[in-house]
Amino acid sequence: MKKVLVLYYSQSGQMKKMVDSVIAPLKMSEVIEVDYRKIKPVQKYPYPWPFYPFFDAFPEAIYMHGCEVEPLEDVEDDYDLIILGYTIWFLSPSIPVTGFMQSEQAKQLFKDKPVVTLIACRDMWVMAQEKMKKLLSDVGATLIDNVVLTDQGGSLYAFLTTPRWLLTGKKDPFLGLPAAGVSEEDLANSVRFGERLAEALQNDEEKQKKPLLKNMGAATVNGKLVATEKIATRSFMIWGKLIQAAGKPGAFSRKIVITIYAVFLATLVLTIVPLNILIRKLIYPWRKEAIEKSVKFYEEPSGR
Ligand SMILES: Cc1cc2nc3c(=O)[nH]c(=O)nc-3n(C[C@H](O)[C@H](O)[C@H](O)COP(=O)(O)O)c2cc1C
Repeated sequence: MKKVLVLYYSQSGQMKKMVDSVIAPLKMSEVIEVDYRKIKPVQKYPYPWPFYPFFDAFPEAIYMHGCEVEPLEDVEDDYDLIILGYTIWFLSPSIPVTGFMQSEQAKQLFKDKPVVTLIACRDMWVMAQEKMKKLLSDVGATLIDNVVLTDQGGSLYAFLTTPRWLLTGKKDPFLGLPAAGVSEEDLANSVRFGERLAEALQNDEEKQKKPLLKNMGAATVNGKLVATEKIATRSFMIWGKLIQAAGKPGAFSRKIVITIYAVFLATLVLTIVPLNILIRKLIYPWRKEAIEKSVKFYEEPSGR
């Protein structure tokens, strides 16, 4: 009998849907036992998000100050594989998942275990996955695969549809824009990763701690977005420090800096980001080789 631990954190249920789709074949297998647990922050985060709490979460997310999480109950320490479904908050793993990965329990559970990460996010996950790699190596785990689903409609639309969804709970198409979030088709199709994992577990392939999901379209990096993510991370670090210096989470003094930051971010998203995308498109032929190299790196371990 193989034992798989599945962990996830999801607010709207989208991340859970992806996890459920991937693990369906594992649950159907007679030789695989699945322990399925939700990561629960002690203090819940709101969904949909009111404006200030949304931006108030930003410094703690970017600086990886995870929150306190409830200990997982009835888990063992001899899993053959761990599957971790996490979302991205401000180019970092969400605060509850970071909090869990920094806990003593994560150290016990993850030590020497092969791990598959699943991500469902808007479309900027590359820097967050680098942070996740560090969290996993800190607890002695080996990342063997990474599967990523991103919001439908492309980067520019998602800059509008995703914040509208997160701040109002509305996902439906509006003003001619597509619905927010990952498409139902992509969520359903991710069952193929579970089919392959079930087969691999039956053949003891996970023991080699090598990728099992290569050439299956697991993770596709948009090369033109990598530079944007790097620039945004630098700017986030500066603003994160300023907001933290203004007071503790929830403090009124923080709201003032958050307001200035929100205006800055909106200006950035409406001006610099499209300009940056356009410039990156124009200079692509000269940067092609370097971009392709970085794309290959960030698509590891599963690759396209
Ligand atoms: C506070 C916050 C910040 C987010 N920042 C990012 C981000 O930097 N990049 C990204 O691709 N998605 C970002 N998202 C979208 C999430 O990764 C995810 O798609 C969305 O929250 C739905 O996940 P759920 O399953 O928890 O409902 C953010 C969401 C929240 C709530």
